[in-house]
Amino acid sequence: MANVGILGAGSWGTALSVLLSDNGHQVTVWSIDKEEVKMLQQEREHKAKLPGVKLPESMRITNSLEEGIIGKDFLVLAVPSPFTRATAKKMCPYVKEGQIIVDVAKGIEETTLLTLSRQIEQEIPQADVAVLSGPSHAEEVGRKLPTTCVIGAKSKQTALYLQSMFISRVFRVYISPDILGIELGGSLKNVIALAAGIADGLGYGDNTKAALITRGIAEIARLGVRMGGKIESFTGLTGIGDLIVTCASVHSRNRKAGYLIGQGRTMQEACEEVKMVVEGVYSAKAAKKLAERYEVSMPIVEQVNAVLFEGKDPAQAVDELMQRASKSEHEELPWEE
Ligand SMILES: NC(=O)c1ccc[n+]([C@@H]2O[C@H](COP(=O)([O-])OP(=O)(O)OC[C@H]3O[C@@H](n4cnc5c(N)ncnc54)[C@H](O)[C@@H]3O)[C@@H](O)[C@H]2O)c1
Repeated sequence: MANVGILGAGSWGTALSVLLSDNGHQVTVWSIDKEEVKMLQQEREHKAKLPGVKLPESMRITNSLEEGIIGKDFLVLAVPSPFTRATAKKMCPYVKEGQIIVDVAKGIEETTLLTLSRQIEQEIPQADVAVLSGPSHAEEVGRKLPTTCVIGAKSKQTALYLQSMFISRVFRVYISPDILGIELGGSLKNVIALAAGIADGLGYGDNTKAALITRGIAEIARLGVRMGGKIESFTGLTGIGDLIVTCASVHSRNRKAGYLIGQGRTMQEACEEVKMVVEGVYSAKAAKKLAERYEVSMPIVEQVNAVLFEGKDPAQAVDELMQRASKSEHEELPWEE
């Protein structure tokens, strides 16, 4: 049994806290929001974020960051990505040398273009930072439906330790040394999910969705490999796997926001209606800047940016994607002479 601190009590933090409790660990959940803490302590359920999933009596819930961190064998950082750096900064004084922090959020900082593990390392240099990612909607993990994820860590020892902590009969965990590839796949798929939602909102069909998923992962992999990520991460659970679930699922807030935009709402209206942080909106800007910096072609990312931030008509954006110059599917494949 391990002592685990989970920082962030949204959908994902709550689902993982129940998973780790079910695995026999002593879990303490921290939230910045005093009202949320009080509500969880009283109701033992997050009705707004994860309805129907009961929190075990053994689980502690606190508003004290110190209590959430001190004495814990490892920490899970589950706050939405726009709050990751600020939360890490506040955590730093309580984190001991070599303490493991598993980041489970997905995003790229728009100003620095850094992934979340790099931001955490900057704010908490003494931590051993790992990541958990893959096709895993909280709603389904909460209902104990079979799910697979990947733990990325710097050392195999940390990866194996975390794998043994998270794995269960309904939550299969693989390990990988490719932290960067895992993080880029997880963040950039949200931008493609916005595009898939836009296509749905426009009334386009399954062919369009399949095209966006397949050409989307091609863009993500092109950039990710150029940045140093490994191709296997983009063709695996944390790449195409997560992209498929995000583009297809009714649970995806990015797809939902895209759908509303496709139906004619502005980006602001869509985000307000979804009532949750739509991380793809942040990652879209970052992805465009990364594509420019690394000189990689990302036509879908470009069009998503134009729709979100320049008010471009979504139908016009899809039309322009279809009218691009004709080319090979895989430019690198040689032809027989
Ligand atoms: N929900 C999922 O199914 C899922 C699955 C895999 C990964 N993720 C990732 O996990 C991260 C969290 O997602 P979520 O669905 O739990 O989000 P969420 O919107 O449900 O999280 C909201 C929670 O974040 C915390 N919070 C709010 N404002 C904060 C602040 N200023 N500082 C610190 N904490 C604050 C509060 O506990 C709040 O309940 C995201 O990066 C998401 O991409 C989510």
